[in-house]
Amino acid sequence: MNGDDEQRVQFGIEGLDSMLSGGIFEGSICSIVGTYGTGKTTFALQFIYEGLKQGEKAIFISLDERTEMIHRDILRRGWDLDTYLDKSLFVIKLDPTDFTVAVNQIKDELPQLIRSVGARRVVIDPISLFEGIFTDESTRRQELFRFIERMRDEDCTLILTSETLQNNPYASKYSLIEYMVDTVILLRYIRPSDLSEVHPAVEVVKMRGSNHSREIKPYEILKDRVQVYSEANVF
Ligand SMILES: Nc1ncnc2c1ncn2[C@@H]1O[C@H](COP(=O)(O)OP(=O)(O)O)[C@@H](O)[C@H]1O
Ligand SMILES: [Mg+2]
Repeated sequence: MNGDDEQRVQFGIEGLDSMLSGGIFEGSICSIVGTYGTGKTTFALQFIYEGLKQGEKAIFISLDERTEMIHRDILRRGWDLDTYLDKSLFVIKLDPTDFTVAVNQIKDELPQLIRSVGARRVVIDPISLFEGIFTDESTRRQELFRFIERMRDEDCTLILTSETLQNNPYASKYSLIEYMVDTVILLRYIRPSDLSEVHPAVEVVKMRGSNHSREIKPYEILKDRVQVYSEANVF
């Protein structure tokens, strides 16, 4: 898979799409890794919105924010949510504290839901809470691997956001997802050489089967979109 003739899907974030040589591969799985507040949810929502504008259907599964919060978030950005909500955009809140229900819903019901909706873009935000359901390390690895393999059978592009631990902003909390997905986008704060202030910066750490930028680029979360400054340098 992943020859260069393959279709790519865009985030609709110009600077990021160019760092990804035009977008991530259709049907692939991408993880956005970053500490809280870096913009993982925002990047994922923009990815969904880009699909909706193109007439695609999308599913946003939230494990941390309430549905109303997500609706409010989208509305605040001035996106014409009403046009899409419950017609082509389905926002679902799962409760990760209810172990069996959450695991079964994600593992068993999600593939059916994707098919019945005909969703081309799916987000799980954040996957860390799914991983955290499993207390045993090898079970967690196995279950995550199985889930990801299962999702590869679905005809959709999947984004999994992933939290980092406080002491390591470079890796996801359980350091598993990076090995299993096709693309890893890392969001983190960096301090430029003049030490004046920290800036959020984005980096494509990995992209199976494609060239991608190795540069670290600053970005900003504006009211209605994410702006990646691909011409600027952070160092
Ligand atoms: N409507 C908005 N306009 C401008 N900035 C926003 C808006 N919504 C959220 N933000 C900012 O974007 C940042 C990233 O938010 P979010 O995507 O939820 O991060 P994460 O999912 O990584 O925790 C927040 O710290 C907030 O300051
Ligand atoms: Mg978030």
